[in-house]
Amino acid sequence: MELISSRSSSLHGKVCLPGDKSLSHRAALLAALAQGESRIENFLTSGVTQAMLEALTALGIGWELSGTTLTVQGNGLYGLRPPATPLNCGNSATTLRLLAGALAASGTQAVLTGSAGLRRRPMGRIVTPLRQMGVPVQATADATAPLELAARPPDWPLRPIHHSMSVASAQVKSCLLLAALAADGPTVIDEPGPSRDHTERMLRSMGVRVESQPVMVDDNPWFRVVLDPPRPCTLTPSDALHPLHTSLPGDFSSAAFLIVAALITPGSKITLRQVGLNPLRTGLLDALRLMGADIRETVGEERDGEPVGDLTVRYSPLHGAQVAGELVVRMIDELPILAVAAACAEGLSVVRDAAELRHKESDRISALCTELQALGVNITESEDGFAVQGGAIQGGSVDPHADHRLAMCLAVAGLAAQGPIMVSDAEIIYESFPGFLAALQSLGAVKLTTKV
Ligand code: S3P
Repeated sequence: MELISSRSSSLHGKVCLPGDKSLSHRAALLAALAQGESRIENFLTSGVTQAMLEALTALGIGWELSGTTLTVQGNGLYGLRPPATPLNCGNSATTLRLLAGALAASGTQAVLTGSAGLRRRPMGRIVTPLRQMGVPVQATADATAPLELAARPPDWPLRPIHHSMSVASAQVKSCLLLAALAADGPTVIDEPGPSRDHTERMLRSMGVRVESQPVMVDDNPWFRVVLDPPRPCTLTPSDALHPLHTSLPGDFSSAAFLIVAALITPGSKITLRQVGLNPLRTGLLDALRLMGADIRETVGEERDGEPVGDLTVRYSPLHGAQVAGELVVRMIDELPILAVAAACAEGLSVVRDAAELRHKESDRISALCTELQALGVNITESEDGFAVQGGAIQGGSVDPHADHRLAMCLAVAGLAAQGPIMVSDAEIIYESFPGFLAALQSLGAVKLTTKV
């Protein structure tokens, strides 16, 4: 499918976003590990969450999806059945890394694999600490998937470890926290940046003792999580993870595309309702405000420990800004769309400390720079980021490099471009935000069309 995006008149209206991707993955998997029935409303139905649900079926977990309400019959921490065939995680590293942690805890024999793109992504960062915990897991010689986990008896607990991550990563942290549920003592995980803490918040809401605190490591501010597990050998129903009864907030990372669309389209004013506003996800708001963006937040309730609220965004003339350090960690998935905002801003924007972008669905630094340069954007690549000199965006044909976020970012660029932008293979958008086109069209971006 080709997506054609042309300059838009102003955007107006209100949109409710589909459920958060990170929370949907965690809710489905943790519900499977809980004892009893969980009910999760506003579950994200998309390519990547489908991969998680299919894996749960293969692991003997019953679930039912009615619209966007998911019910899951949890079998407890040790209730996963060995799957008959390898678990295919598609393009989703979150699916693979979280499943690795859950399988490690339950002691279930399984093979985890995925698309060619996923099989290129680094897995040594979970395999090494899992092995230190005593998990019988093998990766390929270059520390990538497929990962093979051997069976482990439930009365053979894992070793608690103190692990320092060299790169802040919520997927790695979450994998280890899940494995730590079956350790015979508290596991400590330190990370150099504050990655999203959805797993910690959800586990807490399910009755697990997990604490987070800032700590100093070699005179640098780091972040520490300590999980004190229910003892595997004495696990009783009251120690088990409580089932979830929750409604997931809208995905901030999907909202990000609409936020930038409104900021760069003159005359726009949109409201995004019931969005997840966990501060470890909303770094983009801070970066855009540094650039002069008019974005107002109305924070409402907390849902299972996650702040939720509405965002009102008005078109704003933007200027360049510097983004580095912990801000990068809090907006790791939003850096491509920040580049589009920077292309429409006056002056220079610089992103540093973002080398991790090279290990996402694509090498997001190289792919982003190649495609925006093809649209006449003055963007230059560095080892750990990029610099954008604001100016005009031209029309042209671009390739999203099989990366859902890059596809949406290029489509948004078209709303402010001087000619139409044609995004090839745009069906990749269904991986995370199947309603992307419809949401923008409902706000008035009527010159956004597709061609098969
Ligand atoms: C995610 C964590 C991030 C993010 C990804 C989702 C998660 O990855 O990029 O889209 O749900 O834990 P890393 O942990 O690799 O930074």
